[in-house]
Amino acid sequence: MSKILVTGGLGYIGSHTVVELDKAGYTPIIIDNLSNSSTKNIIGIEQIIQKKLKWYNIDCKKEDALNQVLLKEGNIHGAIHFAAYKSVEESIKYPKKYHDNNIGSLEVLLNCMRKNNIKNIIFSSSCTVYGNPESLPVDENTPFKKAESPYSETKQICENILKRDSCNSVILRYFNPIGCHNSGLIGDYSNNKPTNLVPIITETAIGKRDNVTIFGDNYNTPDGTCIRDYIHVVDLAQSHTKALNYLIKNKGKHVFNIGTGKGVSVKEIINAFIKANNIKINYSIGKKRSGDIEKIWANCNLANKKLNWKAKKSINQSMIDAWKWEQHKNNHVI
Ligand SMILES: NC(=O)c1ccc[n+]([C@@H]2O[C@H](COP(=O)([O-])OP(=O)(O)OC[C@H]3O[C@@H](n4cnc5c(N)ncnc54)[C@H](O)[C@@H]3O)[C@@H](O)[C@H]2O)c1
Repeated sequence: MSKILVTGGLGYIGSHTVVELDKAGYTPIIIDNLSNSSTKNIIGIEQIIQKKLKWYNIDCKKEDALNQVLLKEGNIHGAIHFAAYKSVEESIKYPKKYHDNNIGSLEVLLNCMRKNNIKNIIFSSSCTVYGNPESLPVDENTPFKKAESPYSETKQICENILKRDSCNSVILRYFNPIGCHNSGLIGDYSNNKPTNLVPIITETAIGKRDNVTIFGDNYNTPDGTCIRDYIHVVDLAQSHTKALNYLIKNKGKHVFNIGTGKGVSVKEIINAFIKANNIKINYSIGKKRSGDIEKIWANCNLANKKLNWKAKKSINQSMIDAWKWEQHKNNHVI
């Protein structure tokens, strides 16, 4: 059984990927400092996979501590690096915090990998590297635009670090992950108040908020609201096992967009939630937020073809699962 180091493995995407790694026959070794997650996710993971996993409460920027884990474990085949801060809004307030953690953790991990002869890494990048694109859909050759936030700047810098490093790498540029495992047992335990659409909808549904504010309805889109490529987090997680299989056979540097290839508007998502869960959601129209991208969706042909991977789950399923997660997190009986 190949051991795979999973940094940030107790986070939202990391926890779902750990489940998929186990399913695909890999042995995940988790590193997480709980800066934006909860040990409840390890309980959830172990309930889903029905076995105990190894996890270490370590900051990826601490080289000695990380090295010790790699030495102790031995025979690690590769790393999946999720550990980073992810809030665009927070990064605008605290750019240094984002640079230090997101770039620092990658640099330390690469040093440790080199020392321990680990050659393969999968890196979590983001569609924010494309900024406000001139043509759609974006493919992997779409040039980077000036970063709209310190967060997206860290992703651009990390991608460049990986290009120069001697490791074999797959960079996955995620579009907008939503939903959770159909058990409702693992998900996003972020400390920050959500600023993403779907958690705002579910918080409104459960009564934590009065309504959903749509930031602008006069964009140049069919219903005037912004368009994104929303992908079920389980589909996204599965792309990592496919990427690992691919990297083990194909050394070198690779980049893939990970989305559905379909753009969905804010209003369409709100209506999909209402329909899927039969819950009324109040919404109002607010001012545009500065820095919001009007529309973006992915061309995923490369990942479909090379990784033999395709997003399969519907928006309807994502909305059902997102609602399950909100209830689980708030200890509602599902
Ligand atoms: N969720 C999204 O919408 C999205 C979109 C594009 C890219 N990404 C990227 O995907 C990755 C995972 O995102 P997520 O949504 O699961 O975020 P998350 O915050 O839920 O998970 C990140 C995990 O890393 C841990 N962590 C952070 N810094 C650490 C450090 N220095 N040492 C050890 N652990 C550390 C946190 O405790 C958390 O468990 C991140 O790199 C993020 O930037 C996320």
